[in-house]
Amino acid sequence: MPKEKLPINILNKLDEEYIEIIKPIITNKEFIKRKNYHHHEHRSVYGHSLMVSLNSYLIAKKLGLDYKAAAIGGLLHDFYYKDWQLDKERKPLLESHGFVHAKEALENSKKIFPDLIDKKVENIIKRHMFPLNFIPPFYYESWLICFVDKYCSMEIFKEPKELYKYVGLKKEEKDE
Ligand SMILES: [Fe+2]
Ligand SMILES: [Fe+2]
Repeated sequence: MPKEKLPINILNKLDEEYIEIIKPIITNKEFIKRKNYHHHEHRSVYGHSLMVSLNSYLIAKKLGLDYKAAAIGGLLHDFYYKDWQLDKERKPLLESHGFVHAKEALENSKKIFPDLIDKKVENIIKRHMFPLNFIPPFYYESWLICFVDKYCSMEIFKEPKELYKYVGLKKEEKDE
């Protein structure tokens, strides 16, 4: 994964309260590994999760919602096990990344950060792939991350040739 640049407007908005909330996660070595996991071509899972978390935190704060849950849920919503783009195994559609990674991210988050997962954070992670995963989010904060995630993921449209991968039509050939 090449070194990535986070949008400058993101870096300017990192306030102290936000850093305090996310510190236990961004200093964890399992989470840091996501700097090398592809979210899409030029964005790591780490960078993508940070963008979703910070934007959700800022919006939640403005709307008087639970901004702590938004920051944590945003950061952990894609905390699944592996770099899925390197996984060459063919799977039935309902077992493919888009359908199973929210569940995996929740399992992994509960394992690595048990103290940070409450009912709201759990729902944020588990339901962020609505409508692909059929059950809708329950809390306002869960809806927020669901939308912000999709907004931040629109970067993939900058690489139209890569779109087939995201709908599971073909696996990219990559060297081990
Ligand atoms: Fe996701
Ligand atoms: Fe995401």
